[in-house]
Amino acid sequence: MSHPITVTITGAGGQIGYALLFRIASGAMFGDTPVRLQLLEIPQGVKAAEGTALELQDSAFPLLAGVEVYDDAARAFDGANVALLVGARPRTAGMERGDLLEANGGIFGPQGKAINDHAADDVRVLVVGNPANTNALIAAAHAPDVPADRFTAMTRLDHNRALAQLSIALDTPVGGIRDVAIWGNHSATQYPDLAHATAAGDPVTGLLENRFEGADGAREWLVETFIPRVANRGAEIIEVRGASSAASAASAAVDHMRDWTAGTQAGWTSAGVVSDGSYGVPEGLVCSFPVESFDGAWHIVQGVERDAFAAARIEASVAELAEEREAVRALGLI
Ligand code: NAD
Ligand code: LMR
Repeated sequence: MSHPITVTITGAGGQIGYALLFRIASGAMFGDTPVRLQLLEIPQGVKAAEGTALELQDSAFPLLAGVEVYDDAARAFDGANVALLVGARPRTAGMERGDLLEANGGIFGPQGKAINDHAADDVRVLVVGNPANTNALIAAAHAPDVPADRFTAMTRLDHNRALAQLSIALDTPVGGIRDVAIWGNHSATQYPDLAHATAAGDPVTGLLENRFEGADGAREWLVETFIPRVANRGAEIIEVRGASSAASAASAAVDHMRDWTAGTQAGWTSAGVVSDGSYGVPEGLVCSFPVESFDGAWHIVQGVERDAFAAARIEASVAELAEEREAVRALGLI
């Protein structure tokens, strides 16, 4: 049997943690490589994480090489090959955006430093906790010895939501859809892009024109229905479920890490990665792009054409990311 991968999960006692840990232990994230799970919680969350650890034992997963619970970041990130940063401070009544960024800076700065000081040399980090892109930026800023491209933020859930909405609209299987992209921030300003997508090999643009009786109908569906539905799906889930998405978020985290380590097989996916200046996105912002994974790294897909509408929407989302960076700079968090 191969050497276990050490996976640290923060916020392990929460909702996403409960859905995520069993998927990882079952082999969904790293195939038949054994995993050692290191769960990090704040003291109030430790009991819940310990309960989950007991249930993980009771599941007798052949690939589970061990599970430990910590309330100390240095110990939890010790030797981590993978760090899933799920725990975050939720926005509560009366909190301004600056308060939320400040509260999360107090979490993601020290966790970035603990990753820098204690994780394995090959550590890969996925930030799920919101605001995910800027939390990833903060963590990366506190880990100067870790290459910036090892820090990512999750927009795979947005990507999967876009696939699902398109699949429903065209009555076509999700598995045959390729080259959908999410650009920008994991927020309502994101731009879900179908301009280059295909379904069963056919351009989606033409399929939508057939489905919605012409170019005007297709455009109306895109602008009035598809984009707002995907961009606001998180709020829709909270409204209907009474809690934020958990199982679908966990599933997206599995997809993101599996593709990062094993490579993408069928065209583009989407991930928040540290910008190298591609498409005019300021360097260093953690922005969602169409990406492919090979040789163990994410690569931004180059040369994607964007019409004026797409360029304006992406610019607006990137401007929001730049504002968030300015806000955390002003707070002294980076
Ligand atoms: P939850 O409240 O159920 O669980 C969060 C857990 O994090 C709690 O158990 C809490 O004790 C723990 N925690 C808080 N601060 C911590 C710290 N400093 N260190 C370790 N643990 C800490 O929330 P959830 O439903 O699991 O969601 C977690 C986060 O994921 C939220 O920020 C949510 O907004 C975000 N989210 C992101 C996406 C995405 O697509 N990127 C999707 C869904 C949810
Ligand atoms: C989601 O997209 O489901 C979440 O980011 C929503 C949230 O605010 O937790």
